[in-house]
Amino acid sequence: MSCANGTDCREGAKRHVALAVLALMLIAFLLLSVWSFVPSHKQAIPNNTYYGDADAVMGKRVFQAYNCMGCHTIVGNGAYFGPDLTNIYEDAGPAWLSAFLPSAGGWPTEAAVKVQLQNALVQRDAGTAEITDYLKRYPGAVERIHQRGGQHTLMPNLPLSATEITQLIAFFKYTSALNTEGWPPKPNPDRRLPVVALAAQAQAAAGPVSGASAQAPAVDAAQDPVLVGKQLVNSLGCVSCHATDQKRLVGPGWGGLSGRQVTLADGTSVVADDAYLVRSIRTPDAQVVEGYPPHVMPPYDTLVSESDMQAIVAYLRSL
Ligand code: HEC
Ligand code: HEC
Repeated sequence: MSCANGTDCREGAKRHVALAVLALMLIAFLLLSVWSFVPSHKQAIPNNTYYGDADAVMGKRVFQAYNCMGCHTIVGNGAYFGPDLTNIYEDAGPAWLSAFLPSAGGWPTEAAVKVQLQNALVQRDAGTAEITDYLKRYPGAVERIHQRGGQHTLMPNLPLSATEITQLIAFFKYTSALNTEGWPPKPNPDRRLPVVALAAQAQAAAGPVSGASAQAPAVDAAQDPVLVGKQLVNSLGCVSCHATDQKRLVGPGWGGLSGRQVTLADGTSVVADDAYLVRSIRTPDAQVVEGYPPHVMPPYDTLVSESDMQAIVAYLRSL
């Protein structure tokens, strides 16, 4: 290796440079390797991971069994026909969910949520028994009740049992508590749902006609118990579970019910007189109709006064 043989005299110097560059790269590699472990200190480790209870685990299975994922997204998985459900618990709360899930074909009214708050388990979960307090805690429920309450939804009624509903709510409570770094983004509350927008349009179109005639029945309604009863079953949210004809929704249709023989789940039968109707509304689980699930209709005992009850019964009798 000498210059005399015509070889490169600077070869020694080049070799040093190459080694120095190699050493620098090694140092950079080691430093970057160490640094890549630093941010992972903040990662979830078993000590701060949140586990759902047994109900939440069962709720996930119910969610899968009914293929809710075929229409809804949850924690980043699923389809987009229905809204994302990841934060639905935090948003609308347990009482709204217990009112919505058994009769998903109709949006719950305020009275429908109120009746769920009588249930001790729902009360404990929600942290309150008062509807005004509840609406303060769960602002998503306010928006849902006021903008959509009483309207039809695009979701089908699913034959969920009372236990399955409790389990689904526990599952939603679990997904709401997950740290998803802000996903999904909050929807714009001013954006009205298409169903509501259409209803509003239809109302606007029918404006002057219904405006004039709306005045007259309002006066009659004060006296006529059938009209009062009709208003009550709407505002109490009964009609999201019952059709006024003989059609089966979540519960049996009311058409022609009064005076008819009703077969009960225990095999006995009973005539649907006024006393039966009152019992069916105040304590529905006392006499469950054959072919329908128990514990799905909430008891309206404390929510409906005696005079309101008479109006509801008068209305049912008129069908
Ligand atoms: C066939 C499709 C479909 C299936 C299956 C379905 N949903 Fe829905 N769901 C919808 C649609 C559509 C909406 C929105 C309704 C509307 O805007 O009118 C909705 C709304 C909801 C809402 C209210 C969301 C909100 O932000 O207010 C909840 C809660 C919900 N679904 C839960 C469920 C659960 C739980 C299941 C399974 C047991 C399920 N859904 C199965 C289509 C579906
Ligand atoms: C969440 C759904 C749901 C809501 C809301 C609901 N019901 Fe029911 N209702 C049912 C189901 C399911 C049955 C059948 C099982 C039973 O007898 O409890 C039923 C049964 C009845 C019956 C007996 C029907 C028959 O054929 O013998 C009457 C009457 C009735 N409901 C009235 C009402 C009234 C009035 C309201 C509102 C104040 C109401 N329901 C709200 C689900 C509901």
